[in-house]
Amino acid sequence: MKKSLIVANWKMNPQTLREAKKIFNSLKKGVRNVKNMEIVICPPFTQFSIFNSQFSKNIKLGAQDCFWKQGGAYTGEISPQMLKNLGVKYIIVGHSERKNFLGENDEIINKKIKAVLEINLHPIFCLGETKEEKNKNQTFKVLEKQLREGLKGINKTKINRVILVYEPIWAISTTEKTVDCSVQDALGAILFLRKLISQMFSKKIAQEILVLYGGNVNGKNAKEFLNEKWINGVLVGAASLNAEDFKKIIKSV
Ligand code: 13P
Repeated sequence: MKKSLIVANWKMNPQTLREAKKIFNSLKKGVRNVKNMEIVICPPFTQFSIFNSQFSKNIKLGAQDCFWKQGGAYTGEISPQMLKNLGVKYIIVGHSERKNFLGENDEIINKKIKAVLEINLHPIFCLGETKEEKNKNQTFKVLEKQLREGLKGINKTKINRVILVYEPIWAISTTEKTVDCSVQDALGAILFLRKLISQMFSKKIAQEILVLYGGNVNGKNAKEFLNEKWINGVLVGAASLNAEDFKKIIKSV
């Protein structure tokens, strides 16, 4: 049976520690006996403290972002090393919201992926096209550029720690006029990413690398994505803040 990765991206939610604790406690109860999967919760940095003391075996702590240096005079930033010291294993890099609102580009993403790999953590590298790009049939062109630039200079010995996520921006639940991405479309993009990995690294790596899908995944549709052999898991936004819905996603593995 394949091992799945279920990642919760809480984004800039919830607003209080109390609410965060409530979601987490409810979640913990529902995942005691899960097997063949790793659950990763990526809360806002300010809520990390509640996870440290209470972390359960089945749930790992993740971060939504990091800086590309391990320390120094970088006001307001948080380094991968600081996150590692807090028990973080996975760090989301290149989320479309950071590109859209904070001007992150392929070069910055590449530096962050390298910094995460340097200290042996797992970057969760998000790739995906806008609605305009999709309408112009540029999906594969955009994905290829993002993948090649993001992984520039990364060698074969490190690539197996990278987790890729196909997350089309037009399918994210909070995007204006969001549209659901079909499993067929998600699979098409994911197989394309694997083909590129095969060209850039090797066929074996292309088969072994974990590739997830993200974009309006919820308790109702998760199973369709997770049933696919070449989709190794999901990256969940809004539905991960609802413990009941998130538990349904976990149960569908
Ligand atoms: P939604 O699941 O709310 O569509 O968000 C997806 C996402 O951006 C996860 O990183």
